[in-house]
Amino acid sequence: MNREYLDEFEGRDGYLNYASVGPPSRSARDAAGALLDEVALGERAATQIIGPAYQKARGEIADALGVETGFVTSVPSTSAGIMQIAFGLVGSGGNVVVPAHEFPANRYPWLRAESVGGPEVRAVEIPDRRVTRETLSDAVDDETRLVAVSLVDYMTGFRVDVDSIAEAAGDALVLVDGIQGLGAVETGLGSADVFVAGGQKWLRAGFSAGVMAVSPRVFDRLEPTLTGWWSVEDGYAFEVPPPHPALATADRFLEGSPNLLGAVAAAAALDVVDVGGIANIEAAVLERSGAVLDLARSLDAEVIAPWRSDGERAGIVTFRIPGLPASDAVASLATAGFVVSERNGWIRVSPHATTPMRVIEEFGATLRDQVRKA
Ligand SMILES: Cc1ncc(COP(=O)(O)O)c(C=O)c1O
Repeated sequence: MNREYLDEFEGRDGYLNYASVGPPSRSARDAAGALLDEVALGERAATQIIGPAYQKARGEIADALGVETGFVTSVPSTSAGIMQIAFGLVGSGGNVVVPAHEFPANRYPWLRAESVGGPEVRAVEIPDRRVTRETLSDAVDDETRLVAVSLVDYMTGFRVDVDSIAEAAGDALVLVDGIQGLGAVETGLGSADVFVAGGQKWLRAGFSAGVMAVSPRVFDRLEPTLTGWWSVEDGYAFEVPPPHPALATADRFLEGSPNLLGAVAAAAALDVVDVGGIANIEAAVLERSGAVLDLARSLDAEVIAPWRSDGERAGIVTFRIPGLPASDAVASLATAGFVVSERNGWIRVSPHATTPMRVIEEFGATLRDQVRKA
């Protein structure tokens, strides 16, 4: 990776936990801080500062996700974006199809909407976690309104082929929770109808820095159920009592004032991705997670490996080692300076492009030592 990209980050090399939280770049932190500093001076009406800053950030986010500015908005979290979509389907009848093993952020919104009359939730059991056209298509029928998947599975690192999910969905909308991929692998709205991702992981934008892009079909098919005052035409025409018509842009999916600091941080973090080059970052992430995979196999670990080629995996490797409880391993790795996660009794390791290759070797030596002592 080039020096300019690497210089954006100052965290410890032994941090191998980007699937949980990605320490943010300097640019992301500076962008949010500078904007707040400007507002703090009180020299102009805040709206004169934040309005242009927000529109600029939206434009940059839209470019990165491959859509026009009107098709993106900022979201405080992945869940908040999915909630907007789920509640937009209340009243449409039918069903939504979602793998049963999805991260809860992509389960709760559908369940919450279902409980107030939204589409029936069809949670598809996929024991090997291979989310493909074949594993989802049986659950899809003429009444399916939407199919929701993660771009990258939080547990295994399995990476879906969004085009094939769109084929399985037929006429239904497709929502992609991209948080485990954005910033690490090449992605964008593509053939999906909704791409939503918090910025706190691989994008390294910090917290409350999520992005959401939608396709034109979304405007026709979703009611702006949770649209608030800021997201309507003439929102400042206070003399006209609400409701006003919802904006004709993706900002209709905001409950109130936009997520401003998060939007500028996300835009800055996406610029940093450009500095590194997403193809280089993706290759580096795959090389590092591949090295973790080799290490796990060399330790006779049991790896959850649903992928059949490198194209079907991303930055996450999850394994367990017979005789070494994951929680013990994670705790002693932390003492040795390596931060990883324990998930359901498994060890989840998620290096980024900034992780030096030598650190994976050092991590391996430490783990090998632990196995010997266990
Ligand atoms: C696939 C996936 N989606 C969403 C989230 C987080 O959702 P939110 O941004 O709503 O906290 C996570 C991880 O925490 C995740 O792994």
